[in-house]
Amino acid sequence: MKIQDIKKTTVIGAGAMGAQIAEVLSRMGGYEVWMVDINDELVRKGFQYIEDRLDRFFVSKGKLTPEEKKNIVNRIKGSTSIEEASKGADLVIEAVIEKMSLKKEIFKRLDGSAPSHAILASNTSYLNISEMASATKRPEEVVGIHFFNPVAVMRLVEVVRGARTSDETIEVACGLAKRLGKEPVVCKDTSYGFLANRAYRALTDEAIQMVWERVASPEEIDKALKLGYNLPMGPLELVDMVGGWAIRASSEEDAIREQGPEKGRLHPLVRAMVRAGYAKIYHYWKDVLSKP
Ligand SMILES: NC(=O)c1ccc[n+]([C@@H]2O[C@H](COP(=O)([O-])OP(=O)(O)OC[C@H]3O[C@@H](n4cnc5c(N)ncnc54)[C@H](O)[C@@H]3O)[C@@H](O)[C@H]2O)c1
Repeated sequence: MKIQDIKKTTVIGAGAMGAQIAEVLSRMGGYEVWMVDINDELVRKGFQYIEDRLDRFFVSKGKLTPEEKKNIVNRIKGSTSIEEASKGADLVIEAVIEKMSLKKEIFKRLDGSAPSHAILASNTSYLNISEMASATKRPEEVVGIHFFNPVAVMRLVEVVRGARTSDETIEVACGLAKRLGKEPVVCKDTSYGFLANRAYRALTDEAIQMVWERVASPEEIDKALKLGYNLPMGPLELVDMVGGWAIRASSEEDAIREQGPEKGRLHPLVRAMVRAGYAKIYHYWKDVLSKP
């Protein structure tokens, strides 16, 4: 398949990433997009998220007219059926929660419902593409297309090669990234966290460990790293903004399986924080950790 052959696209999951990917496929790619979630309310929330972001970042700044916005939204169709949405699709991007068993189940269903030429991609941040591909009869057409958050702003797309991903599939994935205004970087799926997340995580883990040891407050640690390395944002601010600690806690088993117990296990600070119902390290520090 060639990039020009992509007409109908499908995104599985209308959460933070799925909705943003659907939006960019429509706004930049001009594609027909089907966006799927498990019930009508979640699909509606996905649309709401898309509309809010288009208003805030484009319409209010004069980058899109209300008419253009309407066309972008109208190219996206909502569905609660993976089978209906992937029928006739040329490209499917899966963006459900980070859980291997769920992703494999979805790839198996997609393999049965999407046309045989369709590329089946995952937006996974960490998980192994070859394992997802093993749930299908078309591992050559399975690839990682990993967008970064916020999708409208971040230029990097990691195109992740599984053991049996074909060169043609890699080429289409790179072509798609470029068409969406992004810069693709190709890597193998043998690295947990691929390129950017793996390296950045080492920095984040050290920052979290320093908070845990009460070496300094999150503000001070972020300030040191921002000024010391000219980073636009501190790693703790960034992880708090991106969120997803509860999701990471729920996929701890997968992480241990992929990386072994030493690296895969949650940091005790994160475990204690999630258990206490906190979603942000800054808040948990202020309310709990900074106290004697
Ligand atoms: N959040 C980020 O910053 C970020 C960045 C890059 C990649 N990712 C990856 O993108 C994926 C999605 O992350 P997210 O942050 O959007 O999560 P999210 O929790 O915001 O959204 C996931 C959505 O998938 C839906 N879902 C679950 N099971 C489903 C099913 N069977 N069929 C259809 N929909 C289903 C959920 O209802 C939810 O709306 C994950 O693999 C994550 O690792 C996340």
